[in-house]
Parts: sequence; structure tokens; C-alpha cells
Amino acid sequence: MVAITSLLTGLLALSSSAASTAIRRRSITPPEGCPIPTWTVSDFRWYNGSHSLDCVHNDVDINTKGCLCGSGWCEPDPATCNGTMVNVCWTGMPSYQPWGYGPPQTLDIKFADGLTCHDEYIGYRVHDIGHGASNCGYADRGLGRIVAFYGSSNEDSSTGHLDYTLGDGHALKCDNGSSITYSGSVDFALTCIHDADFNATCTAPVFEVPVLSYQWVS
Ligand SMILES: *[C@@H]1O[C@H](CO)[C@@H](O)[C@H](O)[C@H]1NC(C)=O
Ligand SMILES: *[C@@H]1O[C@H](CO)[C@@H](O)[C@H](O)[C@H]1NC(C)=O
Ligand SMILES: *[C@@H]1O[C@H](CO)[C@@H](O)[C@H](O)[C@H]1NC(C)=O
Ligand SMILES: *[C@@H]1O[C@H](CO)[C@@H](O)[C@H](O)[C@H]1NC(C)=O
Repeated sequence: MVAITSLLTGLLALSSSAASTAIRRRSITPPEGCPIPTWTVSDFRWYNGSHSLDCVHNDVDINTKGCLCGSGWCEPDPATCNGTMVNVCWTGMPSYQPWGYGPPQTLDIKFADGLTCHDEYIGYRVHDIGHGASNCGYADRGLGRIVAFYGSSNEDSSTGHLDYTLGDGHALKCDNGSSITYSGSVDFALTCIHDADFNATCTAPVFEVPVLSYQWVS
């Protein structure tokens, strides 16, 4: 009886650990003589306001007109607008916080190795926070590094996804002189807190992005 109980307990422990490791894959073993990076996200912070401007996915915002007055926004009432009524999503507007809108989205991802990624909404796809490649790494995109984040700020808890491409420009040297570069990805637990206005602030506990593949660089 005791044996059966402990067997059952063991099976339960096994199945629950299998579930929790399902999203936690391990890094590959690099080719002999090659270094392999460790990508640990030590701090993850995403702000998405309920009234942050979204000119990529929100048709209402895309079609909204604002009153451009001088170098700022005035009340968007055509009858009193002393400037020009323009689409808030047109390029060249003075700010990404038109009259009536809340603060723009921001994304901050800090890695333990010092890579710091700060992304601020700027209205076009390379800065499409939560939908892929972000400004995180964009600054040195010429070197090929891309950090892409996918997730939703609408739930209290959900699963975020991060893809990391190191890029040829950051290739590492193996003992025999060959250059190698890596990429990896991970699903991670994303927690969002919503205030009374449904502004979302999302964070994640420290997590590692496992290295899942390599490429020789010539
Ligand atoms: C337009 O009118 C608003 C008040 O309605 C005023 O605050 C603003 O300074 C005016 N702008 C210009 C360019 O005259
Ligand atoms: C929350 O959203 C409201 C409405 O858009 C905005 O006025 C306010 O500044 C936001 N608060 C924070 C802390 O971002
Ligand atoms: C950002 O917030 C808005 C407003 O709450 C929401 O509609 C949108 O889906 C959010 N974006 C993402 C990527 O979750
Ligand atoms: C270095 O070693 C790797 C395999 O470990 C091999 O593919 C590569 O061709 C080698 N480079 C040189 C310059 O010998």
C-alpha cells in the first residue's frame, strides 16, 4: 500500500515537472572548441496604455483626426481648431500622444550580459511592440542582431515569446578560427497588472533564452 502510494506520488511529480519543463528547453551543445553565449533576461518591462496610440493595428486610431496647432496638439474640434485637422497617424506629427491619448507604449528588456533594449512606440512596424522585431537590437541591426518579442498585455497572465538572433556581426570565434553565430527562442510567463484605466504594465521573472541552433559564418 505504501509502495503504491509512493509510486503514484512519483508519477504525479513526474507529470507535473514534465508540464513545467515543456516551455523550458535547454541550450544545444556547441561544436567542439566553440564558445556559446548565455542569454538571461534579468528585467522585462512593457507598458501598454489603454489609450496608447496604435497606428498599426487599431483602425479607430488610424482613422482619427486631431487638431495640429503650431508644434503641438489642440482640442480636435474642427469648429475651434486654429490649426489644421490631420490624421493623428500621419508621419511627421509632433508626438505620439495626440490630444486625448495616453502615454505611448514602451518596452524595456535588460539582459544579464549588459545588452539593454529600450523601445518606444514610433508608429511603424519595426517598433511594433508585442508583434515581433523590436527596437531591442535594432540599433545594431547592421550586425544582424534581432530580438523579437511577441505577447499580449490584455490578460493578467499569459505566455510571452522571445526570439534572439545573435547575427553575423556578433559572431564568436572557435578554437580552430572558424566563426559561429547562434539563435534561440523561448516561451515565458508574462504577468500584466492593469490599473483602473486598464493601462497595462507587464513584467516577467528572470528567464533564460536557450540557444537552439548555430550557423557558421564565413
Ligand atoms: C490655438 O488655440 C488654443 C486654445 O484653443 C491655444 O491654446 C493655442 O495656443 C492656439 N494655438 C495657436 C497656434 O494659436
Ligand atoms: C492611464 O490611462 C489614462 C487614460 O488614457 C491616462 O490618462 C493616464 O496617464 C494613464 N496612466 C498611466 C500611469 O500611464
Ligand atoms: C495594447 O493595449 C490595447 C488597449 O488595451 C489593446 O487593445 C492591445 O491589444 C494591446 N496590445 C497588445 C499587443 O497586447
Ligand atoms: C572548425 O571546426 C568545425 C567543426 O567543429 C568545422 O566545421 C570547421 O570547418 C573548422 N574550421 C576550420 C578553419 O578548420
